[in-house]
Amino acid sequence: MDVKALWKEAVEARKFSYSPYSKFKVGAALLCEDGTVIRGCNVENSAYGPTNCAERTAFFTAIANGQRDFKAIAVVGGEDDLVDCYPCGVCRQVMSEFCYPDTFQIICGKTEEEIEVFSLKDLLPKGFTKK
Ligand code: THU
Repeated sequence: MDVKALWKEAVEARKFSYSPYSKFKVGAALLCEDGTVIRGCNVENSAYGPTNCAERTAFFTAIANGQRDFKAIAVVGGEDDLVDCYPCGVCRQVMSEFCYPDTFQIICGKTEEEIEVFSLKDLLPKGFTKK
């Protein structure tokens, strides 16, 4: 699957965002090694703390469905229109539990024409890992 197709999956995933408090809707699409795409959205809570980001929703759903190997994740977010949106620090740390820093790709961008591709290492240099 190419970068643009995965980005579009994240746009679709965002439609299910449950974000009545922040109004900031985030979608994620996680590409597994076997080609499966797992979608995630942010799920907020009136107590704020239990809120789950879109990226972690995608990762935890994938793990709970037997996936362990991942190639890339696309992330998009914004209130109405999309804005520049990059994974938060907690989500970067969750990615580092399951992904290779040099090869796992993180795809962001507020339009299809402005897509940026990072490695996990770009966004989480000198991360704390199980190694
Ligand atoms: N959010 C995500 O879903 N992913 C991120 O990487 C950053 C923030 C969500 C959490 C919350 O529901 C909303 O965006 C505003 O912080």
